[in-house]
Amino acid sequence: MTQRLTIRRPDDWHLHLRDGAMLAAVLPETARHFARAIIMPNLVPPVITGDDARAYRDRIMAALPEGLEFTPLMTLYLTESTDPADVAAAFADGIIHAVKLYPAGATTNSASGVRDLSRVRPVLEKMAEIGLPLCIHGEVTTPDVDIFDREKVFLDTVLDPLRRDLPDLKVTLEHVTTSEGIDYVREASGDIAGTITTHHLMINRNHMLVGGIRPHYYCLPVAKRSTHQQALRVAATSGNPRFFLGTDSAPHTDPNKESACGCAGVFSATNTMACLAHVFEEEAALDRLEGFASLFGPARYGLPVNDTTITLEKTDMPVVYPARIDTGEGPVTLFDPGHSLYWRVTA
Ligand code: DOR
Ligand code: ZN
Repeated sequence: MTQRLTIRRPDDWHLHLRDGAMLAAVLPETARHFARAIIMPNLVPPVITGDDARAYRDRIMAALPEGLEFTPLMTLYLTESTDPADVAAAFADGIIHAVKLYPAGATTNSASGVRDLSRVRPVLEKMAEIGLPLCIHGEVTTPDVDIFDREKVFLDTVLDPLRRDLPDLKVTLEHVTTSEGIDYVREASGDIAGTITTHHLMINRNHMLVGGIRPHYYCLPVAKRSTHQQALRVAATSGNPRFFLGTDSAPHTDPNKESACGCAGVFSATNTMACLAHVFEEEAALDRLEGFASLFGPARYGLPVNDTTITLEKTDMPVVYPARIDTGEGPVTLFDPGHSLYWRVTA
């Protein structure tokens, strides 16, 4: 029996598109299903100024194949020398929709990130004043904090003090991976939301580490124990508009993943909607998929919902997704949840 679900076209509120040949290869994978995405600025060198964002947006649009419609929502990479006036001008011009805070050293290409929050206070004050959201990679980077505790410690020592200091700042805690992060976003007062990735809904650290190390499941923040995964699934399927989709689809070539020091990142653009339908069906919440993927994000960013739709179809036969996609830089392995998927986007 075939089951169908039609929802407003989704958006991805956290996406890595890279540049050059990689951009050309991965962009269609997202644009096929998603109308818009918040584009991460952690290129080498990073997207720091309004002019950088304008130029990157133009490169993305130039890479978009004919027949696909897609709007990149640009962000700036916050550094300790970011100019508040430049940020405000880029927002006023409609070039950017958020600013991204990477604690220095937290993840891929984060070396230019923030070491001392007091040095970016003028930018954050300006953002609070003009209503420009701050997207946060919420992990401390101090070497004495265990990698599995980095998000939890960040909430208490960085995020909460920051939000008390600047209560008008709109904050998105990105790729939440812990029950503590979920509780914080759910219960905190003020303007806060959290994005959840597809892969963190489907895997926990056992998937990555039991029976051999699986580098394609390694990402940051790293997947936690299954109780945290369960908390993410409850939040994503709860219908609470503070939680919405940010896939964090982040391509790295196979040689860079399957290495003695492999890169962090899960590439999930191609099958994300099928994976989400699978999860929401398992949680008996298919009727809440549209909110999570298509409605709550636009509301949060002050944008209209998309006026087109996609249709997901479930069949009895497993759908075969490619194991990897070819890029001009080398093969990129697609996220494999480790079991069959029966959903596909048909229209
Ligand atoms: O796993 C990750 N990969 N986490 C990040 O925060 C960055 C991303 C990347 O750029 O590859
Ligand atoms: Zn990311």
